[in-house]
Amino acid sequence: MSATPDAKPLKGLFIRTHGCQMNVYDSERIRDVLKPLGYAPVDSPEGADLVVINTCHIREKATEKVYSELGRLKQMKLASGGKMTIAVAGCVAQAEGAEIIRRQPAVDLVLGPQAYHKLPEMIARASRAVGDRLETEFETVEKFDALPKTRDPDGPTAFVSVQEGCDKFCTFCVVPYTRGAEISRNVDDIVSEVRDLASKGVREITLLGQNVNAFHGPAPRLGGGEDWTLGQLVRHLARIGGIERIRYTTSHPRDMDAGLIAAHGDTLAMMPFLHLPVQSGSDRILKAMNRGHTAGEYRDIIARVRAARPDIAIASDFIVGFPGETDADFEATLQLVRDIGYAIAYSFKYSARPGTPAAGMALHVPEDVKDQRLQTLQALLRDQQTAFNQSQIGRTLPVLVTGKGRNEGQMHGRSPYLQAVHFDGTGAELNQFVDLKIVGASLNSLTGELVRAREPAQ
Ligand code: 5AD
Ligand code: SF4
Repeated sequence: MSATPDAKPLKGLFIRTHGCQMNVYDSERIRDVLKPLGYAPVDSPEGADLVVINTCHIREKATEKVYSELGRLKQMKLASGGKMTIAVAGCVAQAEGAEIIRRQPAVDLVLGPQAYHKLPEMIARASRAVGDRLETEFETVEKFDALPKTRDPDGPTAFVSVQEGCDKFCTFCVVPYTRGAEISRNVDDIVSEVRDLASKGVREITLLGQNVNAFHGPAPRLGGGEDWTLGQLVRHLARIGGIERIRYTTSHPRDMDAGLIAAHGDTLAMMPFLHLPVQSGSDRILKAMNRGHTAGEYRDIIARVRAARPDIAIASDFIVGFPGETDADFEATLQLVRDIGYAIAYSFKYSARPGTPAAGMALHVPEDVKDQRLQTLQALLRDQQTAFNQSQIGRTLPVLVTGKGRNEGQMHGRSPYLQAVHFDGTGAELNQFVDLKIVGASLNSLTGELVRAREPAQ
């Protein structure tokens, strides 16, 4: 790779991201942290100077994937004569720590989700072969403060982290252990980050947090004395010039307060999409999961959200085969799904995670029963998703153009309901809002025809 006289020579950085959107965001920030050190992204781990695997610990399968990937990287490292540095980041790093280096000695660095700002220092130490190869302390506040203040957005959409961690302790979940206690970011910092993104052409932001609607950020400069709620934050961000769309993910039913629900009805930039995981439709199972709400309370929240914004698309997560789940419990989940009607939902077989309370519960559900239930649930959810997509046919929707398709002239973007929309892009530009007449729909996407381009791209 060539170097300009005053720039550091470029080094190849390959980041593989597993898991949730928080990890996607963190990978972006890892890239930002490493840029001043001369690291530039490359498309393949082969020949890269630094490979970062940003890992997910939520289910056993996700964790096992990491070790098989590390086995393949070891071969590449050997082929490079040992020049490749391998870093394992994210929740597996947090949960397993030094065990990773023991199982795969080719790994140079292990760093938890709160330690990304320390990566440059760790790389320097690794190159001198001194010091600790492990950083898994919890220092969330420091991380928020220490990451670079400005960002290079990749297009018209960006994630903005506003909250991290979780205090809910659902009995199946590792997040409270890997991501630590719930903490909110300072409102003033969020506002300046969003202003900076808007000035660089970002039109749509997604506020991120493991429990994003538990947000309670202090706002020392903007005032008010009290911490702000997510509803207040959304209303404020909606007034920043250029920000036309606001989304947030992921929420907990217990934190769906009246202000946030109202913002869905009266804040133009708030997109009509709500991802509100429920996990199960059975009160008995919800209790064993320590979710802190009943199925009836969940239905009530959805009814209030729909009263505020009738066309809102509702999304959720489900777990089948939680310990003790009977046929009747599972039927209650199916009934909830039929009653709510989801635009999209993610469903998983319960996976016992070491150290979580549910892992030690009695009456684990046999694997074949879990398989059967998952298939039944997913068939119902697929039908609902297809029906929701088809209900858009004939409507004209505003779409933010985010990319070019594989075929010449094809473009794609997102509808307000977060659906992918493909269209013939003649007369449209990237990063622009277009109005598309929806003429086709399938399980995973819509097809549109250009009606008009709404504004020149920035
Ligand atoms: N087993 C299966 N699914 C899980 N999830 C979280 N923990 C587990 C587990 N132990 C699912 C939940 C959550 C989503 C991110 O992952 O549905 O909402
Ligand atoms: Fe995990 Fe429950 Fe917290 Fe969500 S709310 S991150 S499922 S503990």
